[in-house]
Amino acid sequence: MAVAITGASGAIYAMRTVAALLERNCHLELIVTEFGRRLLRDELGEAVTMERLIDHLAEKYGEGVRAGTYTLHSNKDLGAKIASGSQNCEAMVVVPCSMKTLAGIAHGLSRTLVERAADVMLKERRPLIVVPRETPMSLPQLRNMVLCAEAGAVVLPAMPAFYQLPQTLDDLADFMAGKILSSMGFSHQMYPRWGS
Ligand SMILES: Cc1cc2nc3c(=O)[nH]c(=O)nc-3n(C[C@H](O)[C@H](O)[C@H](O)COP(=O)(O)O)c2cc1C
Repeated sequence: MAVAITGASGAIYAMRTVAALLERNCHLELIVTEFGRRLLRDELGEAVTMERLIDHLAEKYGEGVRAGTYTLHSNKDLGAKIASGSQNCEAMVVVPCSMKTLAGIAHGLSRTLVERAADVMLKERRPLIVVPRETPMSLPQLRNMVLCAEAGAVVLPAMPAFYQLPQTLDDLADFMAGKILSSMGFSHQMYPRWGS
């Protein structure tokens, strides 16, 4: 599984998604853009660095996250394995997805590892989930979401629901991460189902 964290608001969605995948014994190919790192700092505090990611996730979500493993890639490393279609990456999620990265994916620019790895998922017809966050949205941004959907991506906007009566921010993050996991083909009980 590949997980890209870019500089759109919603660091908690990324952390919950990474934790949930690690709990499921996954190996993650992780890419954090420059603004993704800044976002983690701005929204989660200086103590949450990529260097102590697993410790942070274990403190917040429990020791189960140590079941998984990850490789952290530079966004500049276009030679990483996930930049090639011959690498069998099963699914990729960009969470949260900035409007800049959304545009790059929509137009197949492949300038960075995030854009290239996403492009590979589309060309190989493998699952790509993009989790855009912006409001309000311009016409180019709306069109870029349509382009991604037309190319085969699942466009899963960071729009948590309230029908499950969330009590905390973590409840909202669970909802978004649960939606992402469902799109990646995992069953889970991260939030109460509608009507249950
Ligand atoms: C704290 C913070 C929050 C941001 N929130 C958003 C956002 O919600 N959506 C967005 O498209 N850009 C947002 N930005 C701007 C992007 O980070 C900026 O456009 C950046 O160039 C994106 O680069 P990247 O896609 O390579 O991470 C935010 C920036 C910062 C520092």
